[in-house]
Amino acid sequence: MKNDDPLLRITNFSVTYDVDPPVEAVCDVDLELQRGEILGLAGESGCGKTTLAYGIQRLLKPPAVITSGDVQFHSANGDIIEIGGLSDRQMRRFRWDKASMVFQGAMNALNPVITIGAQLGDIFKTHRPKMSRTQRNRECGDLLDLVAVGRERLKSYPHQLSGGMRQRVMIAMALALRPELMIMDEPTTALDVLVQRDILRQISQLRREFGFSVVFITHDLPLLLEISDRIAVMREGRIVELDTAANIFHRPQDPYTKTLLSSFPSLTGERGGFVRSGTAKEAMS
Ligand SMILES: Nc1ncnc2c1ncn2[C@@H]1O[C@H](COP(=O)(O)OP(=O)(O)OP(=O)(O)O)[C@@H](O)[C@H]1O
Ligand SMILES: [Mg+2]
Repeated sequence: MKNDDPLLRITNFSVTYDVDPPVEAVCDVDLELQRGEILGLAGESGCGKTTLAYGIQRLLKPPAVITSGDVQFHSANGDIIEIGGLSDRQMRRFRWDKASMVFQGAMNALNPVITIGAQLGDIFKTHRPKMSRTQRNRECGDLLDLVAVGRERLKSYPHQLSGGMRQRVMIAMALALRPELMIMDEPTTALDVLVQRDILRQISQLRREFGFSVVFITHDLPLLLEISDRIAVMREGRIVELDTAANIFHRPQDPYTKTLLSSFPSLTGERGGFVRSGTAKEAMS
Protein backbone atom coordinates (compact mmCIF):
# COMPACT_ATOMS: atom_id res chain seq x y z
CA MET A 1 0.00 0.00 0.00
CA LYS A 2 1.24 3.48 -0.81
CA ASN A 3 0.44 6.29 1.55
CA ASP A 4 -1.25 8.27 -1.17
CA ASP A 5 -3.61 5.39 -1.95
CA PRO A 6 -7.16 6.48 -1.38
CA LEU A 7 -8.85 4.98 1.67
CA LEU A 8 -11.96 4.14 -0.31
CA ARG A 9 -12.35 3.67 -4.03
CA ILE A 10 -15.82 3.31 -5.49
CA THR A 11 -15.89 2.35 -9.13
CA ASN A 12 -18.81 2.35 -11.55
CA PHE A 13 -21.29 1.77 -8.73
CA SER A 14 -24.99 1.45 -9.61
CA VAL A 15 -28.05 0.52 -7.58
CA THR A 16 -31.57 -0.07 -8.86
CA TYR A 17 -34.72 -0.53 -6.77
CA ASP A 18 -36.45 -3.35 -8.56
CA VAL A 19 -39.98 -2.01 -8.30
CA ASP A 20 -42.44 -1.18 -11.06
CA PRO A 21 -41.21 0.97 -12.70
CA PRO A 22 -37.62 0.39 -11.54
CA VAL A 23 -35.83 3.27 -9.82
CA GLU A 24 -32.20 3.79 -10.82
CA ALA A 25 -31.23 5.33 -7.52
CA VAL A 26 -27.43 5.33 -8.02
CA CYS A 27 -25.91 5.38 -11.51
CA ASP A 28 -22.26 4.82 -12.40
CA VAL A 29 -20.73 6.50 -9.39
CA ASP A 30 -16.94 6.80 -9.29
CA LEU A 31 -15.58 8.25 -6.10
CA GLU A 32 -12.31 8.23 -4.20
CA LEU A 33 -11.96 9.20 -0.58
CA GLN A 34 -8.55 10.21 0.72
CA ARG A 35 -7.18 9.31 4.12
CA GLY A 36 -8.17 11.84 6.79
CA GLU A 37 -10.50 13.67 4.44
CA ILE A 38 -13.99 14.97 5.16
CA LEU A 39 -15.96 14.45 1.97
CA GLY A 40 -19.37 16.07 1.83
CA LEU A 41 -22.11 14.43 -0.21
CA ALA A 42 -24.78 16.95 -1.13
CA GLY A 43 -27.96 16.78 -3.15
CA GLU A 44 -31.68 17.16 -2.76
CA SER A 45 -34.00 14.62 -1.18
CA GLY A 46 -34.27 11.42 -3.22
CA CYS A 47 -31.07 11.89 -5.24
CA GLY A 48 -29.59 8.65 -3.88
CA LYS A 49 -27.29 9.70 -1.02
CA THR A 50 -28.50 7.14 1.51
CA THR A 51 -28.66 4.42 -1.15
CA LEU A 52 -25.01 5.06 -2.01
CA ALA A 53 -23.98 4.98 1.67
CA TYR A 54 -25.91 1.76 2.27
CA GLY A 55 -24.38 0.32 -0.87
CA ILE A 56 -20.85 1.03 0.40
CA GLN A 57 -21.73 -0.68 3.68
CA ARG A 58 -23.60 -3.53 1.97
CA LEU A 59 -26.70 -2.71 3.97
CA LEU A 60 -29.11 -2.63 1.04
CA LYS A 61 -32.03 -4.99 1.11
CA PRO A 62 -34.41 -6.06 -1.66
CA PRO A 63 -35.88 -4.54 -3.75
CA ALA A 64 -32.46 -2.83 -3.97
CA VAL A 65 -30.06 -4.52 -6.37
CA ILE A 66 -26.43 -3.52 -6.93
CA THR A 67 -26.29 -3.71 -10.72
CA SER A 68 -22.63 -2.82 -11.16
CA GLY A 69 -19.51 -1.66 -9.43
CA ASP A 70 -16.83 -2.30 -6.87
CA VAL A 71 -15.96 -0.81 -3.52
CA GLN A 72 -12.38 -1.16 -2.38
CA PHE A 73 -11.07 -0.21 1.05
CA HIS A 74 -7.35 0.30 1.65
CA SER A 75 -6.84 -0.25 5.34
CA ALA A 76 -3.99 1.49 7.16
CA ASN A 77 -2.52 -1.93 8.01
CA GLY A 78 -1.99 -2.58 4.31
CA ASP A 79 -5.02 -4.80 3.71
CA ILE A 80 -6.93 -4.14 0.53
CA ILE A 81 -10.52 -5.12 1.19
CA GLU A 82 -12.95 -5.79 -1.65
CA ILE A 83 -16.22 -5.13 0.07
CA GLY A 84 -18.20 -7.19 -2.40
CA GLY A 85 -16.07 -10.21 -1.51
CA LEU A 86 -16.63 -10.22 2.26
CA SER A 87 -18.84 -12.79 3.96
CA ASP A 88 -21.74 -11.45 6.04
CA ARG A 89 -19.74 -12.09 9.19
CA GLN A 90 -16.66 -10.30 7.88
CA MET A 91 -18.91 -7.47 6.75
CA ARG A 92 -20.38 -7.03 10.24
CA ARG A 93 -16.87 -6.77 11.68
CA PHE A 94 -15.82 -4.39 8.93
CA ARG A 95 -18.74 -2.10 9.77
CA TRP A 96 -17.54 -1.54 13.32
CA ASP A 97 -13.80 -1.94 13.00
CA LYS A 98 -13.05 -0.18 9.74
CA ALA A 99 -15.98 1.84 8.51
CA SER A 100 -18.74 2.72 10.93
CA MET A 101 -21.95 4.50 10.15
CA VAL A 102 -24.16 7.05 11.88
CA PHE A 103 -27.59 6.56 10.36
CA GLN A 104 -30.19 9.07 9.31
CA GLY A 105 -32.42 9.57 12.38
CA ALA A 106 -29.99 7.54 14.46
CA MET A 107 -30.59 9.27 17.75
CA ASN A 108 -33.98 7.61 17.94
CA ALA A 109 -32.40 4.20 17.46
CA LEU A 110 -31.05 3.86 21.00
CA ASN A 111 -32.77 1.18 23.05
CA PRO A 112 -35.02 3.09 25.51
CA VAL A 113 -34.79 0.54 28.34
CA ILE A 114 -31.01 0.09 28.43
CA THR A 115 -28.55 2.63 29.84
CA ILE A 116 -26.26 4.26 27.31
CA GLY A 117 -23.26 2.85 29.18
CA ALA A 118 -24.56 -0.67 28.67
CA GLN A 119 -25.31 0.00 25.01
CA LEU A 120 -21.77 1.26 24.47
CA GLY A 121 -20.42 -1.65 26.50
CA ASP A 122 -22.20 -4.13 24.23
CA ILE A 123 -20.02 -3.05 21.32
CA PHE A 124 -16.90 -4.04 23.25
CA LYS A 125 -18.52 -7.23 24.57
CA THR A 126 -19.24 -8.30 21.01
CA HIS A 127 -16.13 -7.11 19.22
CA ARG A 128 -13.50 -7.16 21.98
CA PRO A 129 -14.65 -10.16 24.01
CA LYS A 130 -11.36 -10.43 25.88
CA MET A 131 -11.62 -6.92 27.30
CA SER A 132 -12.11 -6.91 31.08
CA ARG A 133 -15.18 -5.30 32.61
CA THR A 134 -13.03 -2.63 34.24
CA GLN A 135 -11.39 -1.68 31.00
CA ARG A 136 -14.73 -1.76 29.19
CA ASN A 137 -16.20 0.69 31.68
CA ARG A 138 -13.20 2.92 31.32
CA GLU A 139 -13.42 2.85 27.51
CA CYS A 140 -17.14 3.67 27.62
CA GLY A 141 -16.52 6.57 29.98
CA ASP A 142 -13.67 7.83 27.81
CA LEU A 143 -15.90 7.73 24.75
CA LEU A 144 -18.64 9.74 26.46
CA ASP A 145 -16.02 12.27 27.55
CA LEU A 146 -14.69 12.42 24.01
CA VAL A 147 -18.04 13.44 22.53
CA ALA A 148 -18.70 15.88 25.40
CA VAL A 149 -21.58 13.94 26.93
CA GLY A 150 -19.46 13.12 29.95
CA ARG A 151 -18.83 9.81 31.72
CA GLU A 152 -21.23 10.79 34.51
CA ARG A 153 -23.99 9.92 32.00
CA LEU A 154 -23.00 6.26 31.70
CA LYS A 155 -25.98 5.20 33.80
CA SER A 156 -28.48 7.48 32.06
CA TYR A 157 -31.28 6.15 29.89
CA PRO A 158 -31.78 7.67 26.42
CA HIS A 159 -34.90 9.63 27.47
CA GLN A 160 -32.85 11.41 30.13
CA LEU A 161 -30.66 12.96 27.44
CA SER A 162 -31.38 15.79 25.01
CA GLY A 163 -31.52 15.07 21.27
CA GLY A 164 -28.06 16.54 20.82
CA MET A 165 -26.64 14.32 23.54
CA ARG A 166 -28.30 11.22 22.10
CA GLN A 167 -26.77 12.06 18.75
CA ARG A 168 -23.36 12.43 20.41
CA VAL A 169 -23.85 9.00 21.96
CA MET A 170 -24.44 7.58 18.47
CA ILE A 171 -21.23 9.22 17.32
CA ALA A 172 -19.42 7.74 20.34
CA MET A 173 -20.71 4.31 19.34
CA ALA A 174 -19.49 4.79 15.78
CA LEU A 175 -16.08 5.82 17.14
CA ALA A 176 -15.83 3.03 19.68
CA LEU A 177 -13.52 0.71 17.77
CA ARG A 178 -11.49 3.53 16.21
CA PRO A 179 -12.61 3.01 12.61
CA GLU A 180 -10.71 4.50 9.68
CA LEU A 181 -13.90 5.79 8.11
CA MET A 182 -17.14 7.17 9.48
CA ILE A 183 -20.11 7.56 7.17
CA MET A 184 -22.56 10.04 8.63
CA ASP A 185 -25.97 10.28 7.01
CA GLU A 186 -27.72 13.53 8.01
CA PRO A 187 -26.31 13.15 11.52
CA THR A 188 -27.41 16.50 12.82
CA THR A 189 -30.42 17.50 10.72
CA ALA A 190 -32.94 17.05 13.52
CA LEU A 191 -30.98 19.28 15.89
CA ASP A 192 -31.05 23.02 16.34
CA VAL A 193 -28.41 25.02 14.55
CA LEU A 194 -26.19 25.78 17.54
CA VAL A 195 -26.10 22.16 18.65
CA GLN A 196 -25.37 21.12 15.07
CA ARG A 197 -22.43 23.49 14.83
CA ASP A 198 -21.10 22.29 18.15
CA ILE A 199 -21.24 18.64 17.13
CA LEU A 200 -19.64 19.37 13.77
CA ARG A 201 -16.80 21.26 15.38
CA GLN A 202 -16.26 18.25 17.57
CA ILE A 203 -16.22 15.83 14.64
CA SER A 204 -13.57 17.99 12.95
CA GLN A 205 -11.50 17.97 16.11
CA LEU A 206 -11.83 14.21 16.60
CA ARG A 207 -10.86 13.71 13.00
CA ARG A 208 -7.68 15.69 13.58
CA GLU A 209 -6.98 13.70 16.73
CA PHE A 210 -7.64 10.21 15.34
CA GLY A 211 -7.07 10.74 11.62
CA PHE A 212 -10.21 8.99 10.38
CA SER A 213 -11.99 9.97 7.17
CA VAL A 214 -15.60 11.09 7.05
CA VAL A 215 -18.27 10.89 4.39
CA PHE A 216 -20.77 13.47 5.54
CA ILE A 217 -24.19 13.33 3.88
CA THR A 218 -26.68 16.15 4.00
CA HIS A 219 -28.84 18.30 1.74
CA ASP A 220 -27.57 21.27 3.79
CA LEU A 221 -24.94 22.65 1.42
CA PRO A 222 -23.92 25.64 3.59
CA LEU A 223 -23.08 23.20 6.37
CA LEU A 224 -20.95 21.12 4.02
CA LEU A 225 -19.09 24.19 2.80
CA GLU A 226 -18.04 24.80 6.38
CA ILE A 227 -16.78 21.38 7.30
CA SER A 228 -15.78 19.52 4.12
CA ASP A 229 -12.44 19.27 2.39
CA ARG A 230 -14.17 18.26 -0.84
CA ILE A 231 -17.81 18.11 -1.83
CA ALA A 232 -19.55 15.75 -4.22
CA VAL A 233 -22.82 17.05 -5.62
CA MET A 234 -25.30 14.35 -6.47
CA ARG A 235 -28.30 14.62 -8.72
CA GLU A 236 -30.67 11.86 -9.79
CA GLY A 237 -28.24 9.13 -8.81
CA ARG A 238 -25.17 10.65 -10.43
CA ILE A 239 -22.29 12.71 -9.11
CA VAL A 240 -22.46 15.82 -11.27
CA GLU A 241 -19.58 17.70 -9.67
CA LEU A 242 -16.76 16.91 -7.26
CA ASP A 243 -14.34 19.55 -6.10
CA THR A 244 -12.83 21.30 -3.11
CA ALA A 245 -15.31 23.17 -0.93
CA ALA A 246 -13.66 26.43 -2.02
CA ASN A 247 -14.16 25.68 -5.72
CA ILE A 248 -17.71 24.48 -5.23
CA PHE A 249 -18.47 27.76 -3.47
CA HIS A 250 -16.49 30.22 -5.62
CA ARG A 251 -16.32 28.47 -8.98
CA PRO A 252 -19.17 25.99 -9.34
CA GLN A 253 -19.07 24.41 -12.80
CA ASP A 254 -22.21 22.34 -13.09
CA PRO A 255 -25.51 24.21 -13.62
CA TYR A 256 -27.12 22.06 -10.94
CA THR A 257 -24.48 23.02 -8.37
CA LYS A 258 -25.20 26.67 -9.19
CA THR A 259 -28.92 26.09 -8.72
CA LEU A 260 -28.28 24.31 -5.44
CA LEU A 261 -26.07 27.17 -4.18
CA SER A 262 -28.64 29.76 -5.19
CA SER A 263 -31.34 27.91 -3.25
CA PHE A 264 -29.65 28.91 0.00
CA PRO A 265 -30.30 32.60 0.60
CA SER A 266 -27.70 32.64 3.35
CA LEU A 267 -25.07 31.88 0.71
CA THR A 268 -26.23 34.15 -2.07
CA GLY A 269 -27.85 37.02 -0.17
CA GLU A 270 -25.04 37.43 2.31
CA ARG A 271 -22.32 35.66 0.46
CA GLY A 272 -19.55 37.64 2.12
CA GLY A 273 -21.15 37.28 5.51
CA PHE A 274 -20.96 33.54 5.33
CA VAL A 275 -17.32 33.47 4.29
CA ARG A 276 -16.33 36.00 6.89
CA SER A 277 -17.97 34.00 9.63
CA GLY A 278 -14.57 32.46 10.21
CA THR A 279 -15.56 28.82 10.16
CA ALA A 280 -15.49 28.22 6.41
CA LYS A 281 -11.85 27.23 6.39
CA GLU A 282 -11.80 25.94 2.84
CA ALA A 283 -14.17 28.49 1.42
CA MET A 284 -11.95 31.29 2.71
CA SER A 285 -8.92 30.28 0.70
N1 LIG B 1 -37.12 0.64 -0.76
C1 LIG B 1 -37.25 1.42 -1.85
N2 LIG B 1 -38.03 1.03 -2.87
C2 LIG B 1 -38.16 1.78 -3.98
N3 LIG B 1 -37.53 2.95 -4.17
C3 LIG B 1 -36.74 3.40 -3.18
C4 LIG B 1 -36.55 2.67 -1.96
N4 LIG B 1 -35.71 3.36 -1.16
C5 LIG B 1 -35.38 4.48 -1.84
N5 LIG B 1 -35.99 4.52 -3.05
C6 LIG B 1 -35.87 5.56 -4.08
O1 LIG B 1 -34.51 5.71 -4.43
C7 LIG B 1 -34.17 7.06 -4.65
C8 LIG B 1 -33.00 7.45 -3.75
O2 LIG B 1 -33.43 7.43 -2.39
P1 LIG B 1 -32.45 7.77 -1.20
O3 LIG B 1 -33.15 7.47 0.06
O4 LIG B 1 -31.15 7.10 -1.44
O5 LIG B 1 -32.27 9.35 -1.38
P2 LIG B 1 -31.58 10.43 -0.41
O6 LIG B 1 -30.73 11.28 -1.30
O7 LIG B 1 -30.92 9.75 0.73
O8 LIG B 1 -32.82 11.29 0.08
P3 LIG B 1 -33.05 12.07 1.49
O9 LIG B 1 -32.26 13.36 1.37
O10 LIG B 1 -34.51 12.34 1.51
O11 LIG B 1 -32.60 11.19 2.60
C9 LIG B 1 -35.46 7.86 -4.41
O12 LIG B 1 -36.07 8.07 -5.64
C10 LIG B 1 -36.28 6.93 -3.54
O13 LIG B 1 -37.65 7.15 -3.75
MG1 LIG C 1 -31.20 9.86 2.80
